[in-house]
Amino acid sequence: MTALPTVDCTVYPYECDAFGHLNEAAFLAVFERARWESLARGPGMDVFRRSGVWPAVRKATIDYRAGAYPGDVLRVETLVTHRGTTSFTLKQAATRVRDSALISEAELVFVCIDSIGRATPIPEEIARLLGPRTGGAGSRAGAGDLLRIEAGGAELAVEIRGEGLPVLFVHGFPFDRSMWKHQLATLAHYKRIAPDLRGAGASTAPDDGYSMSRYADDLVAVLEAAGVERAVVCGLSMGGYVTFELLRRHPKRVQALILCDTKAEADSPHGRRERDELAALAQSAGAAAVAERLLPALLAPATHTAQPEVVQQVREMIERTSVAGIVGALHAMRDRPDSTALLPQIRVPTLVLGGADDAIASPAVMQAMAAAIPGSHFATIPSAGHLAPLEQPLAISRRLTDFLSTLA
Ligand code: MLT
Repeated sequence: MTALPTVDCTVYPYECDAFGHLNEAAFLAVFERARWESLARGPGMDVFRRSGVWPAVRKATIDYRAGAYPGDVLRVETLVTHRGTTSFTLKQAATRVRDSALISEAELVFVCIDSIGRATPIPEEIARLLGPRTGGAGSRAGAGDLLRIEAGGAELAVEIRGEGLPVLFVHGFPFDRSMWKHQLATLAHYKRIAPDLRGAGASTAPDDGYSMSRYADDLVAVLEAAGVERAVVCGLSMGGYVTFELLRRHPKRVQALILCDTKAEADSPHGRRERDELAALAQSAGAAAVAERLLPALLAPATHTAQPEVVQQVREMIERTSVAGIVGALHAMRDRPDSTALLPQIRVPTLVLGGADDAIASPAVMQAMAAAIPGSHFATIPSAGHLAPLEQPLAISRRLTDFLSTLA
């Protein structure tokens, strides 16, 4: 994913409506101003004209997240999330500088047209600015190569996309690889490898044999199948617990670490009892009851109110998880070792990233974990809970890109 220069835009009184704030129509203008400013700082505002094409907006979606008023300074980030032959897609996010509140997000699809309005291939200079092509319809639509591999009595589904530094995405509980869909679609310079853990998504669900060591050995089988010796390992929550086990058992496989919304401590006695209770609920009432129980705490309050489609996606993801997979994962988490003693021994570059409103792995816990890992970096994502990659995909992808670019 290519980033265009980030710019600050002040909100002027004349842009605001009768209520005194920016409305969605005004955001279109602010985002456009930011794009021009971005070009002015990069290749020049005349880059399209001198290449003989014009970027016509074919579709614009504006998400209004919070009010902005005259005098507010908005920091606008712009990312290229897709580049085809004639078209490209930009995502823009405006965050208020004063309090880091996410104010608005936009997605815009452009088609390069010539002087009589015909779609025309993106000229060389602009192609360089936008970064490499992100593939045809297949790779955009979420269909990377889906491998099926044998590992320890299970068949694992593994999505593999792109080329470059390998990044292994390990999902949490009770989710599947689709929780990384935005990162899989947009981190175009990297080889993205995303398995469904045994018992999740499109992988098979054996009746028993679930443990952190089994999941970690499965990841080694995944890397082997992808032809990768070492990878940057990015684990969210239970994916982080599996990543700690991978570090203990197969340290040479880990080139760098990204720990999202996770913690190093083992379960307390109370936590273990809760695992057993949830397993019993799954067995008696099914995955839908588990979704109902978990959903309130999984997502930030802002996600529950402003992003019903994300709530629905998470619900569906949990509901399609098999009961055997849910129970197996609960037992594996209940019995997992404490990883706090491992933290000071970590010697690979590490990014610790969490939602500012994560009620399961709180920012304070994450910050303490980061402080125990030598040289690690820590960041929180505003307006995100435990599933920050789905709740604030742009902000997460941007953090990942910044970190990954220091490793290449
Ligand atoms: C997860 O997202 O993987 C779970 O919240 C982990 C846990 O329950 O400890």
